[in-house]
Amino acid sequence: MLSYRHSYHAGNFADVLKHLVQIAILDYLQFKDKPLVVHDTHGGAGLYEVASEHMQKTGEYQDGVGRLYGRQTGVEVIDRYLDLIAGFNDGGPLRRYPGSPAISAELLREQDRLQITELHNSDYPVLAALFEGDERIRVFHDDANRGLKSLLPAAHKRGLVLVDPSYELEGDEAHTLAGLVEGLRRFNTGCFAIWYPVIGRRRADAYAERLVALGTRALRLELNVRQPGSAHGMTGSGMVVINPPWGLDKKMETALPVLHKALAQGGGGWMVKGYGEE
Ligand SMILES: C[S@@+](CC[C@H](N)C(=O)[O-])C[C@H]1O[C@@H](n2cnc3c(N)ncnc32)[C@H](O)[C@@H]1O
Repeated sequence: MLSYRHSYHAGNFADVLKHLVQIAILDYLQFKDKPLVVHDTHGGAGLYEVASEHMQKTGEYQDGVGRLYGRQTGVEVIDRYLDLIAGFNDGGPLRRYPGSPAISAELLREQDRLQITELHNSDYPVLAALFEGDERIRVFHDDANRGLKSLLPAAHKRGLVLVDPSYELEGDEAHTLAGLVEGLRRFNTGCFAIWYPVIGRRRADAYAERLVALGTRALRLELNVRQPGSAHGMTGSGMVVINPPWGLDKKMETALPVLHKALAQGGGGWMVKGYGEE
């Protein structure tokens, strides 16, 4: 039984990192005209209304996108992210926050394809309705790992696989690792970006290291808004990018200190760590 709903968390500090990295990877992949596929394993509801009861109840977005929206930082990847969010709001005040599917859809070109799995019975129909009629996009009411098996290899050899589990069930980390083994076997030319929470230093490190070990080349990015262990719940989050685009490490080395300064809630820090040959 799934209880996690992303609508309570949309736009929080973890979404800022995740979506900024997603955009940076897609921008890199779209530098060439060749078609690409985006495979989003955990879609959520796709697009979120800031005035909704859920977003207002937690107010998490206020310490995430809310701290940055309306600013120009002079850092390319951050301003690109903020411009894209502004595009969903006609350049005005923050009323809507796009999830990963809406961000990919916004960036999708005629030749590209987006395929999304989402298992939740309430979020799936909302997500499917969002893209109804767009023949470039397919939405499946299915388990992430089943989708990685049945939908890969995709029609195109280039692409991004975004893996953003809710980690709400015991065993979700193991389930994710198993799905990634299958996904990488089927699509070893793809760039895989996997999000993970930091709820305790040791657990996050152990999991991130297992993710990194799945590829020959990987990049680990992390943004902690508080000292791990200093507060109940998530104090930061990270992304492991397997087969990272060239130059993403340098871009994030510039962006993360600025993001940390803007989003910190007292302490924390950031990390950029590369593995394997460039
Ligand atoms: C963190 S949210 C995804 C947010 C989305 N990627 C974004 O950035 O906007 C995780 C989603 O995974 C869904 N989910 C949980 N377990 C799943 C599974 N085994 N397969 C597919 N989706 C699952 C949840 O219902 C939830 O909507």
